[in-house]
Amino acid sequence: MTPRPEAIRGVTITGTGMYVPERVLTNADLEHMVDTSDEWIRERTGIRERRIAAPEQASSDLALIASQRALEAAGLRPDEVDYIIVATTTPDRILPSCATTLQRKLGATRAAAFDLFAACTGFVFGAAMARSLVASRTAETVLLVGVETLSRIVDYTDRNTCVLFGDGAGAVVMRACAEGQGFLAIDVCSDGELGAVLEIPAGISANPASAATVAAREHYLRMQGKKLFPFAVRSMEESTRRCMETAGLGPDDMDVVIPHQANLRIIDAVRERLGIPAEKVPINIDRYGNTSSASIPISLDELVRAGRIKPGDHVGFCAFGGGATWGAGVLRWTMARQGVTDGVPDAARRLAAPDITPSIPGGVRA
Ligand code: ACO
Repeated sequence: MTPRPEAIRGVTITGTGMYVPERVLTNADLEHMVDTSDEWIRERTGIRERRIAAPEQASSDLALIASQRALEAAGLRPDEVDYIIVATTTPDRILPSCATTLQRKLGATRAAAFDLFAACTGFVFGAAMARSLVASRTAETVLLVGVETLSRIVDYTDRNTCVLFGDGAGAVVMRACAEGQGFLAIDVCSDGELGAVLEIPAGISANPASAATVAAREHYLRMQGKKLFPFAVRSMEESTRRCMETAGLGPDDMDVVIPHQANLRIIDAVRERLGIPAEKVPINIDRYGNTSSASIPISLDELVRAGRIKPGDHVGFCAFGGGATWGAGVLRWTMARQGVTDGVPDAARRLAAPDITPSIPGGVRA
């Protein structure tokens, strides 16, 4: 008799963590750097300030702190991790990967580690991969990190982009759970036809770095923001709807929906189309700007530590990004509230932060 395949296991999040750098770059600081205003940035994007990594901090350093916090919350040691997936557009270097660098710093000696490039949707793609690894019994424990030091690829002479992005890291630990708990649905999509809407023109194989590419500032991110806007709204709505349908849930059943924090107006439009009230949609873009693949796990950790998510809650998340990529996920939450040691000090740290003198943050050294 042919043996039946083993039942696919339920997969859930058992620990969350986040880290943002100390340094705050305010809209007022940006007014000294490009032709913009605090009013324009707040009205068009909802952003008031963003965090910028210190010159000695690479993405793996931000990821390390978020990962340590997530593992601590999950009650696991680094050497119990089977896989590390780092979703990022800004690895420390192309070689070695950010994930293997994190593995070394973390001491996760048993883990297989790799980077995942799906721009702002990286965390959603990573969750889909991690879920498959655990559900198929390929792994017991996956550490999934979304991390960015976007300040290193942002052109601080381009007002179209430099006001939008910030640095930060979020991490989750994913493990098996009872069927019908944890992840109920994940949806991920791509459309390469839209690639030119958000790109870094030079630096790798299609257009290797040279004095000419650097002089033309082609190693910085370029964006057609107006084209991205309607795509972002439509794609996040559609993916979230598909996930709710797969999970057998309607908008009223959702307790929290975490959208990628790219623009407050995009978030509001998605929320309205889905029919989800504002109090169920967390916002932190005002404090962190767009942290790309880190934005969802940062929001998630803030909610968990603030006690806003409890076991049994239906939690959704959705994102869109360069590539183009988009996707969403829905979980039945299983994790009890974790320590509040990091949530409160963050606010305290900001109050105690030293004055920030406006200067061009340490971008790619041209
Ligand atoms: N300060 C002042 N004026 C500005 C600024 C600025 N920082 N940036 C642009 N402007 C100007 C423009 O030059 C334009 O001037 P013009 O009319 O004289 O040409 C005017 O403001 C209006 O520009 P729009 O592009 O029409 O502004 P819009 O309302 O569309 O807002 C924005 C621009 C915020 C970029 C918006 O389109 C947006 O959020 N798009 C989505 C972008 C996004 O989410 N990107 C992240 C992608 S995810 C990832 O993977 C990284």
